[in-house]
Amino acid sequence: MSTLRYLAGPGGRVEGELTVPGDKSISHRALMLGGIAEGDTEITGFLAGEDCLATLRALQALGVRIERPEEQHVLVHGVGPDGLRPSATALDMGNAGTAMRLFMGLLAPQRFDSTLIGDESLMRRPMERVATPLRLMDANIKTHDGKPPVVIGASSGLRAIDYTLPVASAQVKSAILLAGLQSFGRTHVTEPAPARDHTERMLGAFGVELLRDGPSIAIEGGQTLRGTHVRVPADFSSAAFFIVAGCLAAENGLLLRNIGVNPTRTGLLEMLLQMGADIRVHPHGGINRNDDQNAEPMADIEVRKSRLRGIKVAELLVPLSIDEFPVFFIAAACAEGETLVRGALELRVKESDRLAAMAQGLTTLGIENHLLADGLWIRGADGFGGGTIDSHGDHRIAMAFAIAGLKARGPIEILDVANVATSFPGFLETARTAGLQIDAA
Ligand code: S3P
Repeated sequence: MSTLRYLAGPGGRVEGELTVPGDKSISHRALMLGGIAEGDTEITGFLAGEDCLATLRALQALGVRIERPEEQHVLVHGVGPDGLRPSATALDMGNAGTAMRLFMGLLAPQRFDSTLIGDESLMRRPMERVATPLRLMDANIKTHDGKPPVVIGASSGLRAIDYTLPVASAQVKSAILLAGLQSFGRTHVTEPAPARDHTERMLGAFGVELLRDGPSIAIEGGQTLRGTHVRVPADFSSAAFFIVAGCLAAENGLLLRNIGVNPTRTGLLEMLLQMGADIRVHPHGGINRNDDQNAEPMADIEVRKSRLRGIKVAELLVPLSIDEFPVFFIAAACAEGETLVRGALELRVKESDRLAAMAQGLTTLGIENHLLADGLWIRGADGFGGGTIDSHGDHRIAMAFAIAGLKARGPIEILDVANVATSFPGFLETARTAGLQIDAA
């Protein structure tokens, strides 16, 4: 637990133009695919946050040479499909669930042993969801009561599987695709509902052929990746905090530039529009164009202070906005009437139990809510009271309550916020530039 805390609000308004750091999911994947590609990969717009740096260091420990001429500019010298080497020590994924789960898929087919560990929060998170399908492929993987450390034994070759995911999880889907790429035969993965498709798009950009058929994806093992240039858009999940801030307090409008708007990520826009938000999306026509199926689409997003009304969230939108619920609940708390989210059990196994953490924080700030087994019910109110919030070391809980400060009647103190640096380095500065009254202590 860190001693770093924020003091946010009360009140304020936001305006002007800003952008946010690079996409976390895409930065992890660019490093990993670049590492096992033939030739060099250049990554621009890389997220220099703690999570992606854990992936970068793990790849270096596995023998990949990586240069970083600038913070957000990375050159990965790919070692090719058989070029990874055993790490002398356990690979430490820090707070990054994506790193751990994708590395399980990447390392399961290797001819050497690996051990994956992480911080206190990651060591509590479920890993069997990835270990189970990988074992069906003949991988030798052990977890500790379903959790890390994850011990991967040397493989003498994996075989393709046909697997239907029990939950809509991009991390599990991606781990299977990465293992399938290095297996004998054609692996099929079927999703129960669409989840983010960055792995599929990026494999395509590295020259891998994937066959998509409705909810199923097929990948033939043994294909070689060719190094490429990955342009990482600004992270929609980081922009989300300012999209909601804009709905609450941008009298003159707030413009967010160069944001990734992959449709498997933008469920929050749909939910806020249904609530009556004044949001306009201006798609880009240049690089990362929307008409190249492997490219990650980008847009500028314009948002204005809006009168929000509570909604019942459609369950299909849950995987498309999975990381945005902490800040969505802040919007719901400021809306007229009731908001209901169900079918969001996955929120209980994120960096913290996000349903419980948000319910607890909202109650502290005087917002009526009911914590449900798989969701949350909230009655909107005219602003928040002040109080002290435990972020449970979860970056997105911390940032969500910082945004709540805009509508608070007293200061909000947010504890244990150091992990904001895992996904959003510079959050405090960006928030102040936008107009939030926020300090760290
Ligand atoms: C991610 C997938 C999601 C998301 C996480 C990043 C990814 O997790 O919550 O922050 O990059 O694949 P799940 O696959 O567990 O839903």
